[in-house]
Amino acid sequence: MTSVYVFNGPNLNLLGTREPEVYGTLTLADVETMCRMECEEAGLELVFGQSNHEGQLIDWIQEAGAEVQAGRAIGAVFNPGAFTHTSVALHDAIEGVQLPVVEVHISNVHRREPFRHRSYVSPVARGIVVGFGVYGYVLALRGLRHAITGG
Ligand code: DQA
Repeated sequence: MTSVYVFNGPNLNLLGTREPEVYGTLTLADVETMCRMECEEAGLELVFGQSNHEGQLIDWIQEAGAEVQAGRAIGAVFNPGAFTHTSVALHDAIEGVQLPVVEVHISNVHRREPFRHRSYVSPVARGIVVGFGVYGYVLALRGLRHAITGG
């Protein structure tokens, strides 16, 4: 079965309790369930992960890139959290392995503080979903599948 990845960066393990007025009250486990339902319908195997560590996210991106090159995966939905705004290393990892990535942000980062307006990931992303709450993950999975498989 073909895989798809959903990667989450720092502090997203706190979803549900962290600034609910910004990020909502659903937890990361709820997000995983939504993604699983979407992937089940699409006939894709979901690999879901969250890490607070930049290096771990880089390792996952490299592994996912290898799986895509081998024809076993279609790409990744990625919410890099605050690393979005700081990480040249994540930019380089995505570019380096040519991983198809849809960048997701739960909040509309462009309505927030200026430091959130810059993304190092966007220039190497296939697409971006911003500001639709956790439903953005489902939209991103759908968009990725459509972009890669036409389905
Ligand atoms: C976020 C937006 C980032 O600016 C922030 O650092 C996060 C979450 C979002 O999903 O809206 O951790 O990526």
